[in-house]
Parts: sequence; structure tokens; C-alpha cells
Amino acid sequence: MIIAKTIDHTREAVNAAKRKGKSIGFVPTMGALHDGHLSLVRRAKRDTDFVVASIFVNPAQFGPGEDLKKYPRPFGKDKTLLIKEGVDLLFFPGAGEIYAADFSTYVEERCLSKPLCGASRPGHFNGVCTVVAKLFNIIRPNTAYFGAKDYQQLQVIKRMARDLNFSVKIEAMPIVREPDGLAMSSRNAYLNREERRNALCLDIALREAKRAVDAGVRESGQVISLMKTIVLSHKNAKIDYIEIMDADSLTSVEKMNGKVLIALAVVVGKTRLIDNLVIKIPTR
Ligand code: PAF
Repeated sequence: MIIAKTIDHTREAVNAAKRKGKSIGFVPTMGALHDGHLSLVRRAKRDTDFVVASIFVNPAQFGPGEDLKKYPRPFGKDKTLLIKEGVDLLFFPGAGEIYAADFSTYVEERCLSKPLCGASRPGHFNGVCTVVAKLFNIIRPNTAYFGAKDYQQLQVIKRMARDLNFSVKIEAMPIVREPDGLAMSSRNAYLNREERRNALCLDIALREAKRAVDAGVRESGQVISLMKTIVLSHKNAKIDYIEIMDADSLTSVEKMNGKVLIALAVVVGKTRLIDNLVIKIPTR
């Protein structure tokens, strides 16, 4: 695996692969890799000829008081995992390589980025869009892979790629869960043993929501109340949001119909976790 710390080195290696007629698959990450990330890498290996992963803890997507400093950075372990998966190139830049001291240009998506995490974390999606746009420009992949746990991020990036004419296919991969249901996240590493147990409230609330929908409930308010009760019955769990939305437009729906997103963000102890479920309800 080539490890490139500079944009020039990355471009040279990618261009060499392109000259040989290889298609480029790209998996952007912030490191602290888990099986969710590896599922993206495996899919990229299956679909494309030359797989690039990036590890960059992007300061622009963290707000003041968020976990930028303590975000896990187990580089040695990540590198071993990526080598084992057969990644061809790891782009591992420092912050100065990505953001010049006088950096002043940002990418803003103005619609899908506003509710949910965008409302709780102002500026977060500007940071995500900016870094992903830069990574797309540096790597120029044919296909880029993103996990559905960050459902809103996925929709925002798809919209950005469409609106700004990036010629990259965005491939979404399903949420990968621990055996007990907790969605895999690099932030799960922050949880102590008791918090880890209580973190199951997200998955339990989603499964109960699904059960209610399967039983015929269509009122979003009713499902949200049920989910709130479940989450709040867990110690040290505080709700950031629980929302039911049209899965394409990310606008709230009172009555569930068609393709619906049920999304929640919960702070367990000091750790903010997100999870979601997309349900297709047959239109009558
Ligand atoms: O999902 C992530 O890990 C990050 O938001 C991403 C897409 C790598 C951009 O920093």
C-alpha cells in the first residue's frame, strides 16, 4: 500500500493508475476504522481496480467544544487493516496540507444540510462538503463509498456532487451493526461499560418504531412519542432529536407514506450517537 501524505504524491499515484486504464474507488474516512469502514473498502475492491482510502480528521466539520482533540487516531492499527484489505493507496495528509493558513473558500449545501444534525451542529456540513469536494478534486475517483449510518451526510454529498457536476458515482452502503444492534461508529470507543449498554436505546427505539409501522401506525407523532419513551428509560441518555422525514427531501412528515426516514441523535453520557432506519411504506 502506498502511503501518501501530500496532494502531489497522491495525484501522481492516482494518475499512474489511470494511465494504466484502472478505475478508481475512493473511501474517505476520519480513521479509527471499524467493520463499517471495511465494508466500504471491500465493496470498492469488488467494484473498482485501484482503491484509495483517506484518513483525515477534518477540523472544519467539528464545532467549538466538540471532540476534535480527543477523536481517536489509532494510525498503526488503521494502516494494518487497510493493508490487509488490499487498499492500493492511503492518503493521510496533515491539516496544513488540506487547509492553507489563509484558506477561505467553503462549499455549502443549503437545503438537505439544514435539519437534523445540521441544526444541532451548525457549520458541520459545510466542513464535510468542503473537505469531500477537495478530496474528490484531489483523487478524482470514479466511485466514492459512504455508509448509510450518516444518512443525512450521504444525501448532502449526493446533492453536492450533482449540483457541482463532480463526475463521481456515490455508492451508499448499509449500516453495519455490532451483534447486539449498536450501529458501528468510531465514537463508540468513548463509551464506558454502562454507557455501552445504554447506547442500545437507539437501536431498540428504531426496532420498536418499525414494529409500530408494521402494525399499521402511520402518525409520525405517535411513533416519535414511543421512541422518546424508550430512549428516556435508559440511564444517562439525552435526546438531541428524533425525527420522521421524507427520505429524499428531508422534510418532516406528519403521516408516514412512501420512503420515510426515521432518524435520531442521542447523547449517552457525553457521547453523541446517531442512527436511522429507512422504511418503504406502500402508498395506498
Ligand atoms: O463520515 C466521515 O467519516 C466524514 O464525515 C468524511 C466523509 C470522511 C468527511 O470528513
